[in-house]
Amino acid sequence: MKTIDDLGVAGRRVFVRADLNVPLEGGAITDDGRIRAAVPTIGRLAEAGARVIVASHLGRPKGAPDPQFSLAPVAERLGELLGRDVAFATDTVGESAKSTVGALADGQVAVLENLRFNAGETSKDDAERGAFADSLAALADVYVGDGFGAVHRRHASVYDLPARLPHAAGGLIATEVGVLRKLTDDVERPYAVVLGGAKVSDKLGVIDHLLERADRILVGGGMAYTFLKAQGYEIGASLLQEDQIPAVQGYLKRAEERGVEFVLPVDVVAAAGFPDLRTKAPSEPVTVAADAIPSGLMGLDIGPRSQELYAAKLADAATVFWNGPMGVFEHPDYAEGTRAVAQALIDSPAFTVVGGGDSAAAVRILGFDEEAFGHISTGGGASLEYLEGKTLPGLAALED
Ligand code: 3PG
Repeated sequence: MKTIDDLGVAGRRVFVRADLNVPLEGGAITDDGRIRAAVPTIGRLAEAGARVIVASHLGRPKGAPDPQFSLAPVAERLGELLGRDVAFATDTVGESAKSTVGALADGQVAVLENLRFNAGETSKDDAERGAFADSLAALADVYVGDGFGAVHRRHASVYDLPARLPHAAGGLIATEVGVLRKLTDDVERPYAVVLGGAKVSDKLGVIDHLLERADRILVGGGMAYTFLKAQGYEIGASLLQEDQIPAVQGYLKRAEERGVEFVLPVDVVAAAGFPDLRTKAPSEPVTVAADAIPSGLMGLDIGPRSQELYAAKLADAATVFWNGPMGVFEHPDYAEGTRAVAQALIDSPAFTVVGGGDSAAAVRILGFDEEAFGHISTGGGASLEYLEGKTLPGLAALED
């Protein structure tokens, strides 16, 4: 892969595909980690005299403008973090984009409106995607791919556009790939993986792959209840993906055959209903055994005994990868499991990687010092697919 130094950017219009897909609540950014991660490359290009055009998606609008997914607040935050004026185009390839880019002087920065306001960005049809990529290419002279969080998407700005312009990888992609390589080539053992988040179905590929590589797999979050059910336990009203039970049983069997330790919660924090994440009003949590969750109660976090167990399983690891929160960490009654795992990573002498939009956001929202972790990835799905050994379209497109 070429780097920015190979491109020669001074005085040129440089299209930077970043991943500025940050969580918003009522129009306010709740975690700006991805914007901060994008700053070094954008700042460096501006310093080098490039006319920097920053583009990203935000959320999942349906191929048409939708104000709740506007990148305007993101552009404002980027300006604050860069310490420079950042212009904003109210469309992506229309009149506003053309005039905003046309007005850029060397060293200035503009952000385009959400790429996904155009159906061509995510289209499955090569011609439709290609036509949108042509319009994007007309705005710029060169392309820098730096949106690691989106490299698993075969989208116009990620995959088709670099084929149309001289291209290079930005610093964030280089760092992310460098770190994830350490988890795939010659990993230091014991290698422990903590998986959480809501759905087992999102993690099937990575579990399948890790069963051949990891020494220990610790499971929490909503997906843990399908594992508990697969072992024949009562899980009350907890989240269940019944159709995944056979797959999960297969994994548990394979893990036993291969000597991979699967660690499931032994207790959970449960409640009669899902907590109110908007008001964060106190709820009525109770701690119950994981093998007998009473009917009518739903598990919303791993319990204190599980927290201790997971911390012990991470204490002597040499490498840890963590993706997905252990519970509904957005509500204080159900944040302790995620907090305990984050603390266990910090306390462990292992090389630790936090991957995933949600777990990375959790670490920051819960107030941990990012520097205390080996690496916090900006990629959720992207880091999982990298670990699965898949070819990622956005990385393949940056190869020379
Ligand atoms: C992410 O949040 O994982 C990336 O920004 C990709 O977003 P997507 O899943 O909507 O494509």
